[in-house]
Amino acid sequence: MVAKVLAPNEENLEIAAEELRSAGLVAFPTETVYGLGALALDANAVRRIFEAKGRPSTNPLIVHVLDRAMLLTLVDELTPMAIALIDRFWPGPLTLVLPKRANVPDIVTAGGSTVAVRMPAHPVALALLRVVNAPIAAPSANRSTEISPTTAAHVLASLGDRLRVILDGGSCERGIESTVVDVTGDEPVVLRPGSITRAQIADAVRGVSQAHLSPTNTSRSASNASSIARSPGQQERHYAPRAKVTIIPSESIAEMVRDPAAQHDRRAFLLIDRASHSPSFTNVIRLPNTPDGYAAGLYAALHDLDARSDEIVIESPPSDAAWEAIHDRLRRAATPA
Ligand code: TXA
Ligand code: MG
Repeated sequence: MVAKVLAPNEENLEIAAEELRSAGLVAFPTETVYGLGALALDANAVRRIFEAKGRPSTNPLIVHVLDRAMLLTLVDELTPMAIALIDRFWPGPLTLVLPKRANVPDIVTAGGSTVAVRMPAHPVALALLRVVNAPIAAPSANRSTEISPTTAAHVLASLGDRLRVILDGGSCERGIESTVVDVTGDEPVVLRPGSITRAQIADAVRGVSQAHLSPTNTSRSASNASSIARSPGQQERHYAPRAKVTIIPSESIAEMVRDPAAQHDRRAFLLIDRASHSPSFTNVIRLPNTPDGYAAGLYAALHDLDARSDEIVIESPPSDAAWEAIHDRLRRAATPA
């Protein structure tokens, strides 16, 4: 089996929808990364996602919905906090962990009582959801522990022999995975940082009344403190290239520039583009000095550098909070197998 990379026109969206309806897999673009989709309410279809990725069954999936009506087929009720976050950030790169309805198969949630849901802000993802008119479970479309894909070519290289249809929507605009937030307790708990920051989440829920919490949710809040530990799938090594990755401070990069012995063919550099220092390395990619710009290019840069080197030296980005998700992904990329 070799996947067809299809332009997302009406005819091909119908082909993709038919593949999903027959319990197949379809890779599709979202604003964050490409997803490997299957119909979320079909346990047999979802099982094929785990097989294709080599993903441990203990790591639950994110379910993608077209709109709020579709969300309400997966969860029973929404707290004011969940509604405030949905109002502010959907469609967009925010995933909410909510108490699930009984119809959501165990395989989607790794047997847990919560389901992670998001409404993507990508016209092709939304068009596919509209045509199948059913929720789509989709993790990032890469083999487990590999770098997430931000182009159709990345998906083809990683999983091309394990599915039939890849919808090509060009490069993903955001470039890193959604922020995952547990909203089953009194306070939102960030389980995975992403391009929507903690500060933005705190701002969106400020002043939101908790008075309407249902008894279920009130009892759940007691277990909230353990939800980070419970956050499955946050294994340390993830998003990792084959090459050895080291993260070093800017000052050390400046030193390496002056030392010719520090530069050789199989060592590549991932630097921040700033006027103040522009080392004359050849095996180098420079990413913008803004969190959004950097995130948008990060995975493509890692895919590229990984293909042409054995070692990737990464300049540590600024340490302020806006860069949290970037630091998270870099730290995981640098964690040895
Ligand atoms: O941007 C994204 O979120 C992309 C695109 C395709 O939407 N998807 C993605 O999926 O990154 P995946 O499977 O690579 O990451 C899902 C994350 C994992 O960290 C998983 O542990 C967490 O969401 N997750 C899923 N369901 C959960 C649940 N019920 N409770 C806690 N964490 C959950
Ligand atoms: Mg992933």
